[in-house]
Amino acid sequence: MTTKGFPEGFLWGGATAANQCEGGYDQGGRGLSSVDVVPFGPDRMKVAIGERRMLSCEEGYSYPSHEAIDMYHHYEEDIRLFAEMGFKCYRLSIAWTRILPNGDDDTPNEEGLRFYEDIFKLCKKYSIEPLVTIDHFDTPIALIEKYGGWRDRKMIDAYVKYCGVIFNRYKDLVRYWITFNEINMLLHMSFMGAGIVFNEGDDRQSVLYNAAHHELLASARAVKLAHEIMPDCMMGCMLAAGQFYPYSPDPKDIWDGFEKDRDNYFFIDVQARGSYPVWAWKRMEAAGVKLDLREGDEKTLAEGTVDYISFSYYASRCTTADPEIFAKHQRPGNAVFKAVVNPYLKNTEWGWQIDPLGLRVTINTLYDRYQKPLFIVENGLGATDKVEEDGSIHDPYRIDYMRQHIEAMRDAVNVDGIPVLGYTSWGCIDLVSASTGEMKKRYGMIYVDKDNEGNGTLNRIRKDSFYWYKKVIETNGADLSWEE
Ligand code: BG6
Repeated sequence: MTTKGFPEGFLWGGATAANQCEGGYDQGGRGLSSVDVVPFGPDRMKVAIGERRMLSCEEGYSYPSHEAIDMYHHYEEDIRLFAEMGFKCYRLSIAWTRILPNGDDDTPNEEGLRFYEDIFKLCKKYSIEPLVTIDHFDTPIALIEKYGGWRDRKMIDAYVKYCGVIFNRYKDLVRYWITFNEINMLLHMSFMGAGIVFNEGDDRQSVLYNAAHHELLASARAVKLAHEIMPDCMMGCMLAAGQFYPYSPDPKDIWDGFEKDRDNYFFIDVQARGSYPVWAWKRMEAAGVKLDLREGDEKTLAEGTVDYISFSYYASRCTTADPEIFAKHQRPGNAVFKAVVNPYLKNTEWGWQIDPLGLRVTINTLYDRYQKPLFIVENGLGATDKVEEDGSIHDPYRIDYMRQHIEAMRDAVNVDGIPVLGYTSWGCIDLVSASTGEMKKRYGMIYVDKDNEGNGTLNRIRKDSFYWYKKVIETNGADLSWEE
């Protein structure tokens, strides 16, 4: 049954986010954004999850987004390299504050608009389809100061205003859009995902579910507006995916995993089906959540369902209902998703578990649930790379990781018959890590000479994976082999 390649027109490519690669944070009329004040070092996570208020750049801290890999000045070189790899698609995000420096300005910043227009035109020149994330961990600081981020409903109008500007400007250049990056991350990294800093006495569940409601309404309005302005466009939602496996066959563990999955699917359920699932109402009620549901909200959600489901997949997750087992086996590394170690899997250097078959599980689960085309818009391995004396970089571990995941995706497409639109590997070029702020945690197939302390020439170097991925794309995924 298995055929080797992928359907014609499969969108192979890579993905980045403005705040992790552009730099130029105060150039070209750009305003300050949430991630610009998320520092490097031990306070990073506290700020990212909304526990520590830092709404401006403070003395004694460094901020990785400020320069990042300076794609602001290197984009021509970088897109040329993507074209050399044969990219059919490049996923990037627009920095909201490059377009509207205060988030809701009446006059957009022409320099910012031109910056992305140049990028999209360059993509067109190389026949690369841009895939644009409208909001990738990016809330304008001015709006956080004014409204407290997405806890306030007024964010919806600001977001829709921003969408109107970019849709009208780029309607002939961009077809594929994503409304919010990893929308479910709002529950876990509330400042990064929604510009929320918790105040003392906050009813946190109500704050979070109202912020979610506002983002969902904003997403639905953006979808509707996009379809009016660009009838042929494809509007997607985006999930930080990865199925929860039960640690044991104990039904309590099964139920625990089921509920944890639902916490994440909740967002996509609304964006894909246009209404809240019945259990979500019950759960909010039980948690005492006071949802600010107003007249017309349900109609808005129903009218703004997405055309496809995109997601990131790095690992599956594993859970148990038993607090003692949980404490004993809790997974180190990225603390964003609380989970236990799955003893059947190996770990990356950063403690993320490697589970290629989990990608096939995730693809099938999402399709069973929504029956909409899928798009894998993030997948990759964060690892340390070494530049050899002759300037080469051998990264068989990355090739191996990607090969196994692409194989799993190929089975999902060819054996299971799931419609997958494309695959954009995360951090096709080394960039700043969202969770740690490090440069050392490299995902790219293109190396960028810069270290955690900000030293380096910013030179770009092709890794072995660059040549391997080029061949994968050339053969439309039929040849995944690699010989050193
Ligand atoms: C996803 C984000 O969560 O994972 C990216 O959309 C992020 O922004 C990526 O960079 C990898 O995570 P990290 O923390 O290793 O950069």
